[in-house]
Amino acid sequence: MDKTFYITTPIYFSNDKLHIGQTYTTVASDAMARYKRLRGYDVRFLTGTDEHGQKIERAAQKKGVTPQEYVDNIADWIKELWKAMRIEVDIFIRTTDELHERAVQQIFKKLYEQDDIYKSVYEGWYCTPCETFFLERQLKEGKCPDCGRSVEKIQEESYFFRLSKYQDRIAEHLQAHPDFITPQSRRNEMINNFIKPGLEDLCVSRTACKWGVPVDFDPGHVVYVWMDALVNYISALGYLSDDDREYRKYWPADVHMMAKEIVRFHVIIWPALLMALNEPLPKHVHGHGWLTLEGEKMSKSKGNAANPKVLLERYGTDAIRYFLLREMSYGNDCGYSDEALLKRINADLANDLGNLLSRTVGMIDKYFGGKIEIRRVQDSREAEIAALAVQTVLKTEEALDSFHFSEALAEIWTLIRRVNKFADETSPWVLAKDPAKKPELAGVLYAMSESLRIISVLVSPFMPETPQRIQEQLNFSDPALTAWESAKTFGLLPEDISIVKGEIIFPRLDVPKELAVLNGLNQADPNAPSVGKFQQISPEEAFKVLREKSASQLVPGQPAGQPAPDGVISIQDFAKVKLKVGLIMQCERVPGSDKLLKSQIQVGEDLRRIVSGIAQWYAPEDMVGRRVLVVSNLQPAKIRGEVSEGMLLAASDGEGNLSLATVDGSIAHGSEVR
Ligand code: MSP
Repeated sequence: MDKTFYITTPIYFSNDKLHIGQTYTTVASDAMARYKRLRGYDVRFLTGTDEHGQKIERAAQKKGVTPQEYVDNIADWIKELWKAMRIEVDIFIRTTDELHERAVQQIFKKLYEQDDIYKSVYEGWYCTPCETFFLERQLKEGKCPDCGRSVEKIQEESYFFRLSKYQDRIAEHLQAHPDFITPQSRRNEMINNFIKPGLEDLCVSRTACKWGVPVDFDPGHVVYVWMDALVNYISALGYLSDDDREYRKYWPADVHMMAKEIVRFHVIIWPALLMALNEPLPKHVHGHGWLTLEGEKMSKSKGNAANPKVLLERYGTDAIRYFLLREMSYGNDCGYSDEALLKRINADLANDLGNLLSRTVGMIDKYFGGKIEIRRVQDSREAEIAALAVQTVLKTEEALDSFHFSEALAEIWTLIRRVNKFADETSPWVLAKDPAKKPELAGVLYAMSESLRIISVLVSPFMPETPQRIQEQLNFSDPALTAWESAKTFGLLPEDISIVKGEIIFPRLDVPKELAVLNGLNQADPNAPSVGKFQQISPEEAFKVLREKSASQLVPGQPAGQPAPDGVISIQDFAKVKLKVGLIMQCERVPGSDKLLKSQIQVGEDLRRIVSGIAQWYAPEDMVGRRVLVVSNLQPAKIRGEVSEGMLLAASDGEGNLSLATVDGSIAHGSEVR
C-alpha cells in the first residue's frame, strides 16, 4: 500500500479528566482516520497525553502525590475514555515516555549548538492553565487573553528559541500554501494577529518548574512544555531514534487536528522548529470551533463541563459521537446543552435511522415471514432513491475530504429521510392487502433494505457500532457489501433477503426524565466519575439526589426580608462571604512597608495576589506552603499601590498576638470553607 495518511490530535493536558468538549478533536480525527482506512490508506492516527509543566506539578502537589503518579492516573483515565468512545488510535504517546524525552533533549541540544537557541533572561507574564508566556501588551485587562484567568509575573533565566528569525519564511509558507490552515478565517487571523505584528523569540525553558524534560547540558532548566509537547508528533514516529522507519514513512503529517485556540502554536512555533531542524512541514492544520456552554468555551475550571463518561454510559458511544460530529458545523462554535443532545438522539437516531431499520425489518417479518423469496418488481421511484444514494456517497466523500463532518452527516440524513418518505409514499401496508401486489411490495422493501445497506457503510466512519447492528438485522456481512466502494453501486444486496429481527437500535428517550437524571448526576458528582469506573446511577437514585439537594438548599431560620436583632446576621448574609482554602506559593515584603506582605496564593485554578498586614508576625519564607483561609469574593483593593485580590483570615487577641487561620494538607486549595 503506498497511500499513507498520518493524522494527529493534540496530546491532552493531564492536569484533569476531560470534558465532553475536549473529546471533539479526537472523535473527529477518529472519524477521519476510519474514513481514510475505508478508502484504502495506510493510516497512522496519533493521540496521547501532555504530561509536563507547572499546572500538572501544582495539581499533583495539591493532591499530595508525585507528578508521575498523578499523570499515570489521568493517562489511564483518558485511555479508558477513548476505549469507551471507540477511538482506534495507532499510537498513544505520553510525553513522559523515554523515547519522547530523549528526542526532546536531542532536539534542544541540536538547536542550541546551531545557535537557534540561546540563553538570556525572561521577564514577563505566564498563564499556568494555558502554559503560555505573554508580553504585557498582550494581556487583556491584566488577565490571560486566552482564558481570562490571572497571570503570574515571572523573571527567570531562560533559553530562547530564535522564532523571529523564521518570521519571513513562515509568512511565505502561508502565502504559498493557502490551504495550509483551514478554515480560511483562522489563516487570516494568524497572519493579521500574530505574524504581521512581528514574532518575538520564544522562551523555551523554565527554572521555576521542575516537572519537565531536563535540559541535559544545563540541569536547572526544563524544556518549556509547549516545545516539549509539539515534538511528540515526530518523536512518536521514532525521529532521531535508532529506528526512524516510521518517521521516514509517515512524516510529514497529512493533518494536525485541534480546536482554534491552539492553532497558533501549530502554524507558527511548530513550523519554525521544523524549519530549524531542516525537516518538512505538516501538510495541513485544521482548527475546529469550540463546544460552548452558555456562550463560553466549555471548560472544567469554569465548572460548566459535561462529563463524557456519564453520557457514554447512558446513551451509548454512537449517539454521543453522532451528536458531536453533527452538531459542530464547519468552522463554528457549537452550543452544548443536555436538551440539544437528547433532542438530536430522538429526532435523528430514534425517529429517522432507528425507525427506518425497524420498519423495514418489521415489514419483511410481517408480510414475508422474515424471508423474501419471490422475484421483486422495481417500483418506479426506486431509481430516484438509487440515484440519491450514489450521489450521497460522493457528497459524503467531498465533505469529508474537506473536514466538513457535520455536512457529511447532513447529506446521509437527507438520504435516510428520503427513504422514510419513500416508504410513506409507496404505502407497503396497502400493497400488502393485495396478494397480486406482492412482487411490488418486495420491490419496495428491497429498495429500503438496499438503502440501509448503503447507509450502514456511509455512517461507519462516524459511528463504529451502528453499521454492524444494521447489518446483523439485514443479515449480511460479506465484505463485498460492506466495503466503502460497494456503496457506490445500488442493487448489490441479494434479492432473497432474510432478516434477523433485533432490538430497536436507538430507543426514544423521555426528554424531561432524562434531563432530571442528568441534572441529578451532575449534582451527585460535579467533577467526574472516579478514575477507572463508570458512574452507575438509576433514575430513582438521581431523583433522590435532587430531592436531597433541594431540601438542603432550604436554609432554616429567618425568613427573607425580616429585620435581624442587633449584630445577628441571617445565614443568607453569612453565605455571601465566600471563604476558600488557599495555598501560599510565593510571598515577599511590600517595598517601603514594614507591616505588609504580598503573597501569591493558589485558590483552585485561580492565582491570587493578596496583601496582608502581618509582616510583624510572619516572615515571607514562613508563609510559603501554608494553607490559609481566604475571603475570595472581596472586591479587589489597592494597598500601597499593590492590588490585593482578597483577604487572609487571622485571629488577633488585641494584645499584640496574631495567628493566621490555617488548615492542614489534607484539604485541597480551592475548597470552600463553610
Ligand atoms: N496539551 C495541549 C496540546 C498540545 S499539542 C502539541 C492542549 N491540550 S488540551 O487538553 O487543553 O486540549 C486538547 C484538545 O481539546 C485541543 O484540540 C483543544 O483545542 C480541544 N478543546 C479544549 N476545549 C474545547 C472545547 N470546549 N471545545 C472543543 N474543543 C476543545 O491544548
